[in-house]
Amino acid sequence: MSHSPWWHGATLYHVYVRSFQDGDGDGHGDLRGLISRLDHLQWLGIDALWLSPTMPSPNHDWGYDVSDYRGVHPDLGTLDDLDDLVSQARERGIRVMLDLVPNHTSSEHPWFVEARSGADSPYRDYYVWAPPKSDGSAPNNWLDDTGEPAWTWDKKSGEYYLHNFLPEQPDLNWWNPSVHAEFDAVMDFWFDRGIAGFRIDVANGLYKDAQLRDNPKHDEAYIYGREVQGRYGLQHLYNFNRPEVHEVYRHWRRRAERRPETPLLLGETWVARVDELAPYYGDNDQLQLGFNFPFIFAPFEAPALARMVAESLAAFPEGACPIWAGSNHDLPRMATRWAEGDDRRTRLAHAVLATLPGTYALYYGDELGMTDSDIPARLHRDPLTAGERNGQWPRDNARAPMRWDRTPGAGFTTGEPWLPLPEDESVNVTDQRASATSTLALVRALIALRNEKFAGEVAEYREVEVSESRWVYTSGPLTVVASFSAEPQRVDVAGEPVLSSATVREDLPAAGSPPVLRPWEALLLCSA
Ligand code: GLC
Repeated sequence: MSHSPWWHGATLYHVYVRSFQDGDGDGHGDLRGLISRLDHLQWLGIDALWLSPTMPSPNHDWGYDVSDYRGVHPDLGTLDDLDDLVSQARERGIRVMLDLVPNHTSSEHPWFVEARSGADSPYRDYYVWAPPKSDGSAPNNWLDDTGEPAWTWDKKSGEYYLHNFLPEQPDLNWWNPSVHAEFDAVMDFWFDRGIAGFRIDVANGLYKDAQLRDNPKHDEAYIYGREVQGRYGLQHLYNFNRPEVHEVYRHWRRRAERRPETPLLLGETWVARVDELAPYYGDNDQLQLGFNFPFIFAPFEAPALARMVAESLAAFPEGACPIWAGSNHDLPRMATRWAEGDDRRTRLAHAVLATLPGTYALYYGDELGMTDSDIPARLHRDPLTAGERNGQWPRDNARAPMRWDRTPGAGFTTGEPWLPLPEDESVNVTDQRASATSTLALVRALIALRNEKFAGEVAEYREVEVSESRWVYTSGPLTVVASFSAEPQRVDVAGEPVLSSATVREDLPAAGSPPVLRPWEALLLCSA
C-alpha cells in the first residue's frame, strides 16, 4: 500500500537557530534552546523543522560557508545535541531537516585549503579555477552576490577561483565526479542519523558553464517591478540554472527513494519565473519541493497571487507538491513586505498560504505576525549585506531574536542578544498563547484545519473568482473567500463557515446567509 509523503498537506517551520532560543546564556540561539521549545512547536501543530545552517563554519555568511559537512557548529551545540533534537522531536511527531550547501564551501574547508596549496593538489579540481585573460584580468565578467567580480586571484598558483557569493565561499566544481560522491556520502551520513531531508541551498546553482562564457548584459526583465533575471546589470545565464543540474537531482531522488522513509529534497530554487521552477520537479523525479520565488515576490494583490498559483499548478508535473511561503532569512518578512505591518493583512496571508494545496512553510515569528526590525548599520552582523553593501537590503532585519515573553531578554536569552530584540514587546508568544484570537491562535487553528481537511494530501485547487477586491477558491473540501479590500463586502458563497482570519472561531457568520466580509478577512467555509 502506498502512503502519501509526509510533506503533502504538511506544515514546515523554518528555524533560524541563532535567533530562536538561547540555551546557555551566550546570546546566540542554539540546539539545546531549540529542544526546550519543542513542546511549544508541538502545541502549534507543525510537522517538520528546517534548521538554518548548523554545520561548522567561520560564519562569513552565518553558516552558509561550511567548513565541515559532518559536524555541528560549536556555537549551536554538538552532534549529540543534534541527535537528541532529532529523537525528542520525533517523540512529538516532528521531523528535522537540515540546510545543505552544495554550491560552495568555506574557504577554510580542508578541501579548499588543500586545493589552494598548488595546481597539482588532488583537491584542485574540486573548485572552479581559471587562468587570467591575457591582460591579467578575471576570466570572465561574472559578478558575485555583492556586485563585485566573482573571481579572486590566487597569487601562488597564478589562477583565479570562482565565488558566486563571498570570496570566503569558493564555488565547487560539479563537473568533477568526486564532488558528487562527496555529497552522496554527506547526505547518507545525515540520513543515517535520522535527518528527514534537506533544504538545498542555491539549488539553481552547482553547475557553471563549462566554457565560462561571459554573462549577457541584463535585458531588463522585471516581474512586478523587481529585477529578476539577474543583478548588477548582468543576466545570470552561465553561472546559474544550468541544464546539467537536473541530473544531480534525479540521482539524489533515486537515492532518497531507496531509503525506507524517503527523505525530502526541498530546493532553494531561486528562479524568476514559474516555467523555470517547474523543471526542478522534473517529471516528478527530481526535487520533491522547490520554493516558489515568483509567488513570494508577487505583490499582495488578489490577481497577482492567484495568477502565480494558477501558473504554478499548470506548470508543475502531475502529482507534484507545491510549497507556499511568504518569508525567509534573506527577505523582508511577509508581515512587513506583504502586509505593511497591518495585522489584518498578515492574518489574511496566513489563511491563504495555509489553504493552498501542498506544503505551508512558516519562518519563525511569522506565526506572531513578527515584522522586520530596523537594525542600525553599526549593529549589522551579516557580512553579505552589512551597511547595505551595494544597495542591498540588510538581511539582519529579518533575523531578530524570537520574542517569547515581556522579560528583558524576551525569554530568548539571559545574556546579550547577538542581534537586537524586536522593538515591539507586545508581539510575543506568551501573550498570544493567552489570547483565543491572536495571530498565533489563528495560525494554530489553520494548521489544525489543514490536518483535518487535507489529511496528508495535496488538495485539489479550483479558482472560482478573482478581482481586485477578492479571491475565491476551493481547496479540497474548503472554500476560501479572501477579501483584498479595505471595505466590507458581501459575498455569495455556499458552505458552513469554519474559520475566519479576522476572529479565528468566534463570531463566525451564520451558515446559509450570504456573509459580509470584513476588510482583509479570509473566511473559510466547508462544503463537506
Ligand atoms: C542562499 C541562502 C543565503 C546565503 C546564500 C549563499 O541564498 O539562503 O542566506 O547567503 O545562499 O549561501
